[in-house]
Amino acid sequence: MNIQIITISDRAFRGEYEDVSGPAAAGIFRQAYPEAEISITVVPDEEEYIRKALDAAAGADFIITSGGTGIGPRDLTPEITARWCEKELPGIAEILRTESYRETPQAMLSRGRAGVKGHTVVINFPGSEKAVRLCARIILPLLPHAPEMLRGEGHEEHRKE
Ligand code: MTE
Repeated sequence: MNIQIITISDRAFRGEYEDVSGPAAAGIFRQAYPEAEISITVVPDEEEYIRKALDAAAGADFIITSGGTGIGPRDLTPEITARWCEKELPGIAEILRTESYRETPQAMLSRGRAGVKGHTVVINFPGSEKAVRLCARIILPLLPHAPEMLRGEGHEEHRKE
C-alpha cells in the first residue's frame, strides 16, 4: 500500500513552523499498516504547487492532503482536489466533517472533499494536528479495501456479505 501525504501550508513550506500534521498522519498509518510505503511533501497554498504535487503522487493508493480546506482567501485545496479527481467520494468528506464537529464546531468551516482519480483515492483533511489525528483514524478501515475495489477485486465478496 502506497500513501502519499501532502501538507498544504504557506507557513510550513516557508519553514516558519515545522510540519506536524504530515508526520502525525504518517505515524497513525504506519502503526496500523507497518508495511505501507508513506511519503510526505510540503507545498504552499498555491494552485500550481498543489496540482504538481497531486500529479507527482498519482498512482498511489491514497493521497491525503492536510490543510487549506477553510475559508481563508488562500484556502484552495478542495477546489483543486475536486478538479483533479474524476469521481467524488462525498461520503468520506461527510463523515470526516460530522465526526470533526464532535471535536469542534469550527469543523463546519472545513470544506474538505474526497474523490478518485484512476486507482488513487484522494482525501482532504483539515490542517490542524488534532484534525489530522482524528481523520486518519477514521479512514483506517478503508485503507485495505478501497484499492481492491478500485481494481475491481473483492467487490463481489463485499456484496455477498
Ligand atoms: N476538524 C477537527 N477534527 N479538528 C480541528 O481542530 N479545526 C477546524 C476545522 N476542522 C479542526 C477541524 C478549523 S479551526 C478550521 S479553520 C477548518 O477545519 C479548516 O482548517 P484548514 O484550513 O487548516 O484546512
